[in-house]
Amino acid sequence: MIIKTGQADAPPDPRLAYFDDLAPVWNAECSSPATTRARLATLDGELGLAPGMEVLEVGCGTGQITGWLAARVHPGRVVAADFSPAMLAEAGRRGLRVEFRQLDICVEGPVLGAFDLVLCFHAFPHFRDQPAALRQLARHLKPTGGLTILHLAGSAQINAFHAGLREPVCRDRLPGADAWPALLHAAGLELTSLTDRADLFLLRARPARRTAESPW
Ligand SMILES: C[S@@+](CC[C@H](N)C(=O)[O-])C[C@H]1O[C@@H](n2cnc3c(N)ncnc32)[C@H](O)[C@@H]1O
Repeated sequence: MIIKTGQADAPPDPRLAYFDDLAPVWNAECSSPATTRARLATLDGELGLAPGMEVLEVGCGTGQITGWLAARVHPGRVVAADFSPAMLAEAGRRGLRVEFRQLDICVEGPVLGAFDLVLCFHAFPHFRDQPAALRQLARHLKPTGGLTILHLAGSAQINAFHAGLREPVCRDRLPGADAWPALLHAAGLELTSLTDRADLFLLRARPARRTAESPW
């Protein structure tokens, strides 16, 4: 079941139609799931995941990594969210024990829970209002929780790739290292680590006002 929240006043974003149109072919055009899972396994210790965690994945698309995530945090819980109904429909066909939610992360909506980890995998550049998206992502974190933004390529590679795509995503950009401290600060978050090299972009952040027992 897909639950829809926080959409009523969302401004139209042409990316919604773009990703809806791509959904039926997304799995065929993505890099092989086995390759992606193998890369994730090598990064496992760096992603902030542990069994029993409550995780929110934002921009889950067709659920390329959602099943891996659910297995990794079992017996914890994964809520997977996206604003594209067609992407979520494809994800739903995977038969995962995951709760899917339709939401636009750039719009203030209900908080879906207090999560240990909020993860954006291959999605952040497409959030049309990145300061607003960060504020919303932060609202879903426990005081001890953390945000992870992950790409299996660096910001320069991602941005060059997007520049070669068509409207409306050809100007979608992943900010470079210099921009993140201020972006995160404005959302009440602070950077804890950032790797940006040709084959990996991995950002971890935590609430600026956290409790002493925060593992981040
Ligand atoms: C490049 S796709 C990646 C999907 C998936 N993470 C994967 O790796 O296959 C980016 C996803 O972000 C979603 N997205 C873009 N803007 C969004 C927004 N404002 N709120 C929620 N999801 C959004 C799109 O619908 C799309 O599914």
